[in-house]
Amino acid sequence: MPDDQAPSAGGPSSPGHALARLAGLGDWRLVLPTRAVWFSPIVRQVLGFTPTEPVTPELLFSRAVPEDRAGAANAMARCLQDGTPISRRDRYHHPDGHVVSVEVRGHALRDAQGNITGAEGSVLDVTAQIGAQRQLTEALVGTLQTISRIQQMRDPYTGGHQLRVADLATAIARALKLPPERVRGVSLGAAIHDIGKLSLPLDILNRPGPLGPLEFALVKQHCAVGAAILEPVVFPWPLAGIVRQHHERMDGSGYPDGLKGDEILLEARIVAVADVVEAMASHRPYRPALGEAQGLAELRAHRGQRYDPAVVDACLALFEGGYQWPAETPVWGAGGFG
Ligand SMILES: [Fe+2]
Repeated sequence: MPDDQAPSAGGPSSPGHALARLAGLGDWRLVLPTRAVWFSPIVRQVLGFTPTEPVTPELLFSRAVPEDRAGAANAMARCLQDGTPISRRDRYHHPDGHVVSVEVRGHALRDAQGNITGAEGSVLDVTAQIGAQRQLTEALVGTLQTISRIQQMRDPYTGGHQLRVADLATAIARALKLPPERVRGVSLGAAIHDIGKLSLPLDILNRPGPLGPLEFALVKQHCAVGAAILEPVVFPWPLAGIVRQHHERMDGSGYPDGLKGDEILLEARIVAVADVVEAMASHRPYRPALGEAQGLAELRAHRGQRYDPAVVDACLALFEGGYQWPAETPVWGAGGFG
């Protein structure tokens, strides 16, 4: 259907139209059985279709970036089949070479008998908004890196421990096939999971020999202290939650909140497993290294009781497959995380 035959909320010169153009907000409609797609002029401009170029769903989705293509096509198919509303954020290749991010919403159109006759909805250009969000996120990650460096200078044991845990936790998250953005949350959460130890006196952190009950109680506060440091900052990942929950155990025997099973973030269950293995594998001021085998034996002994069984299995499989700790203290941004 050409543009001039299309439904419109306001003419090209109406105030509503001008505002919509400024906001990059337009409409779409797909009519059955022809499956012809109508786009308002703004949508054509945003996605890079000429004003008269015929658009089919196949042509449209062929321009989606590969990661979004199947999801976008399936959402449309479901909407036309059973009326499931569409609400997605997808990326499309614009013919001029850049990638546009759009927020697509839609609902089914029905005739008087309730049969689905097509679908319609809106398209919002969110490319600039996503770019600004990404810049802000990277700035926030930069501040985490700075805090991590400060901690590494003050307390090299904890600093190195966190970065090795981050390396293993990242490998586990990838083995569990978490989406890349969620893997990054695991990486960053692991890299700062003991940030709350900044509040502990060096005397306690570096003391040879076991800690007394009062000192141990103080050390246990590092989860809540770390979460309190991070909570005021809005990250796109649940970093404060990961930090607070990394000593929780599946059976409720952990601290600080005694959470159980699914009450614990999956990210925190991954960090917990990597933390235990690394802590046993490495030398500590208060004891020599127990060895990686002992860490893995701890996982096997308490699989499903203290530790998430799927996370334990993924971790054991990594070591069986020859996982190697980073040879040197990992560096942010260089070891596949950060
Ligand atoms: Fe910890």
